[in-house]
Amino acid sequence: CLRPRPAEAERLGPLLLQRSQEAKVAAYCPYSRFAVGAALLTASGQIFSGCNVENACYSLGVCAERTAIQKAVSEGHTSFKAMAIASDHEDNFIVPCGACRQVMREFGRDWDVYLTKPDGTYIVKRLEELLPLSFGPEDLRKL
Ligand code: THU
Repeated sequence: CLRPRPAEAERLGPLLLQRSQEAKVAAYCPYSRFAVGAALLTASGQIFSGCNVENACYSLGVCAERTAIQKAVSEGHTSFKAMAIASDHEDNFIVPCGACRQVMREFGRDWDVYLTKPDGTYIVKRLEELLPLSFGPEDLRKL
């Protein structure tokens, strides 16, 4: 289990949240105007951030969560402890889309996702809660 211990989570939560808010500043979202930032904590303690990157060919836009994961994986990190996600939405905790949940799940079901609001409040969900009964790498090995 890679989830931070409660004492560690108390310290890491606010740090990850801050880093996700900072990442949001770079969001390239001229079409939706919906800026999102993500900060991903690796098992080795590094933080990779990401923002959404949209495209004039709308369907090619990428979410902040996947940007962060691709940055981390392409630098050799595949074990994750937690991710924080930030948006400008005052009223709702930002939630990851279904595609991002599946991409996150590739790297385990037992790590934490901090769903935040701009005021710094958040709720924490495990991947397993965000994507129950999921299909993952282990399923391919059953054949
Ligand atoms: N978006 C994210 O980056 N992450 C989410 O959790 C939800 C949606 C992006 C995709 C698109 O650029 C914009 O927000 C509007 O959907």
